[in-house]
Amino acid sequence: MAGTIQRDVTAGLDIGTSGIAVAVLNRGCGPKPEPLGYGFCPSMGVEKGRVIDPEDTATAVKKAVNDARVAAGVPFSSVYVNVDGPDIVARNDSVKQAIARRQVIERHDLHKLQLHFCETILPANWSVVQLVNIKFYIDGKHVTRPQGCRGRELGLSATVLAIPSKQMDQICQCLRNVDLQVNQTAVGPLAAAQAVLSGVERQLGVICVDIGAGLTKTVFINHDMLYHLSIFPVGAGHITADLAVGLHTSLEAAEKVKMEYGLGVINGHVQVPNLSGAGYNTVPGELVHKIIRSRIEEILDFVKQFIEKLKLEASLPGGIVLTGGGARLVGLPELAQDYWMIPVRRGYNMLLGEDVSDNENAYRYTTAVGLALGGTGQRQVTCGVRRIVEGGLVGRFKSWLR
Ligand SMILES: Nc1ncnc2c1ncn2[C@@H]1O[C@H](COP(=O)(O)OP(=O)(O)OP(=O)(O)O)[C@@H](O)[C@H]1O
Ligand SMILES: [Mg+2]
Repeated sequence: MAGTIQRDVTAGLDIGTSGIAVAVLNRGCGPKPEPLGYGFCPSMGVEKGRVIDPEDTATAVKKAVNDARVAAGVPFSSVYVNVDGPDIVARNDSVKQAIARRQVIERHDLHKLQLHFCETILPANWSVVQLVNIKFYIDGKHVTRPQGCRGRELGLSATVLAIPSKQMDQICQCLRNVDLQVNQTAVGPLAAAQAVLSGVERQLGVICVDIGAGLTKTVFINHDMLYHLSIFPVGAGHITADLAVGLHTSLEAAEKVKMEYGLGVINGHVQVPNLSGAGYNTVPGELVHKIIRSRIEEILDFVKQFIEKLKLEASLPGGIVLTGGGARLVGLPELAQDYWMIPVRRGYNMLLGEDVSDNENAYRYTTAVGLALGGTGQRQVTCGVRRIVEGGLVGRFKSWLR
């Protein structure tokens, strides 16, 4: 990769329950950003998407980042990073502020209003992960580019995605331990959606379901805006744990069984190493199927409730897109489609070519690619944010202003 003529590099860091994944992209001047390299390391110190031991997590982050630096051939020191966990909340609201006579609205006025917005709606011990659906209004009228305009009153409506500050602090500490700066934070499922959904799906109305190891995250996107987000603290890792318990075998052996059989019908028996390591247990294929299926049905039920709550049964033209490692489970799209009665497809990291179904990168780096893609579209904005951060205006609100 060394010697690429135009380099404008962004790196996405996905801190997942089972793995740390890094994707490095070059925005370049082509129609799509070009992947420069990837890095991966099994996670440590992460539980259900939350960093619970920043030092352990930092060790894994360091390895994944170093691998990505070598693969990409570029020494990046800042990242777009996900913040996940079952405690993420989304709140919609709006604020208004008077504009002084003859004052022209500038970018810092927009940033100040966003800060005021977050201070108004968030309790003291919560931190902003991301601000989305941002709309500015001048004298009550929606304005796409308020900068340079005049008026009497500047308004803002937005959705803030927030997390308890303690969890944000753990991530910041982890990244400080490895000398990485945060360009911007984003919630994982929105980043994954960025990497797998087409513009048409986002406009028409689509649900993206990210089945990770510890969490299942569901977002409904319509008119290119986030309408609803819900996080369920159960993921594909629970299937592995259930199999290990139910078949009296190790997690490694259970993981293999899950990947091999998935939701397929298993005739006859399956042999798994027993826990003492001195032989095999012979278990009925039917039992294996039952264990996998009952946990998957729990996840499918969660999504079904999401669909019913939003009354989307008959009005989801973009269908449902499955992503995350759990989406690879054999037979899952077929079962899910029967269950939800809505068209379902698997979503792949869109930077890969056409035939990607067997490509590990298509799944493993989806969120990291989405984070980096978000970065490629926001470079100039981020420079503005940094100035504000350095100016000391923000603490718990940094890394997300737009
Ligand atoms: N072929 C497969 N069949 C079934 N499950 C799979 C397959 N490949 C990966 N998985 C499962 O996907 C999970 C990992 O997915 P992913 O990398 O999206 O999770 P994560 O980002 O680490 O977790 P989370 O998003 O919940 O924090 C693991 O539980 C793994 O066993
Ligand atoms: Mg994940």
